[in-house]
Amino acid sequence: MSTILPENAANPLSSLHEWEEDILARYPDPEKIVQNKKVEEYRNYDTPVRDTVREFYRLNHTYQTFDFVTEKTREFLQFNKKEMPVWNAFDFLNELVDDSDPDSDMDQFQHLLQTSEAIRRDGHPEWMVLVGLFHDMGKVLCLFGEPQWAVVGDTFPVGCAYSDKIVYPEYFVNNPDYNNPQYNTKYGVYKPNCGLDNVTMSWGHDEYVYQMMKDYIPMEGLYMLRYHSFYAQHRENAYSHLMNEQDHKMFKWVDLFNPYDLYSKNPTPPNWKELKPYYQELIDKYLPATLKF
Ligand SMILES: [Fe+2]
Ligand SMILES: [Fe+2]
Repeated sequence: MSTILPENAANPLSSLHEWEEDILARYPDPEKIVQNKKVEEYRNYDTPVRDTVREFYRLNHTYQTFDFVTEKTREFLQFNKKEMPVWNAFDFLNELVDDSDPDSDMDQFQHLLQTSEAIRRDGHPEWMVLVGLFHDMGKVLCLFGEPQWAVVGDTFPVGCAYSDKIVYPEYFVNNPDYNNPQYNTKYGVYKPNCGLDNVTMSWGHDEYVYQMMKDYIPMEGLYMLRYHSFYAQHRENAYSHLMNEQDHKMFKWVDLFNPYDLYSKNPTPPNWKELKPYYQELIDKYLPATLKF
């Protein structure tokens, strides 16, 4: 049985992991390249398998307009949808199941825990471990009925010209803002080096989790949460003209975080029973008893 959905409500990815695998293909683990494969083998992602990812980005680039972001900000940043104890939030996130993804031996919580454990193993500050544990909590937006293209995907500034360093830039021609003279110049509605805090990013799980955590975590960690999917900047350096001095300083932390997000997949899952007391203490130290969604 097939259901006819409006195009912008379609979810082409069989699971959110498909998006992350595509990022891995674009930015492979440098250590693994040395070990076994040539860079070209990794970069060869223009295969039919990737059609769903391509379709996902077509929708993302078509519908992420300045007005769309304004509307979603109004809808979700009141955090008046749900409130629950922190631990229940992980169970809630795990309701996102990837039943059609044969590769996905990992649920959402496993990815979070493997990221935070890799950060801890390398001796980084404890707030960064906490960032690892929460960085994808914003994916719960899917559970509120949001389409995939409004939850995941590389993020980018709206309200100014789209960089051709953003993945699949050709799809931006379908975006109404592309032809809007207010938005389609290099600076658009912004001033040179106005600072990213003054820049509206495409809507997704990064901004949502940043807003959720912004009173509890040091600024370095907040940058990691807010810009972890902003590959056009942290990997491609395409938006320096909008960044101020603080942004440049803080992006060193975003750069530090990114490999833990991408390359921490571990064949031996961490022992949650043993780890729980540590995380309980960490969460109690930084976060309130309940989280608002
Ligand atoms: Fe993420
Ligand atoms: Fe992640």
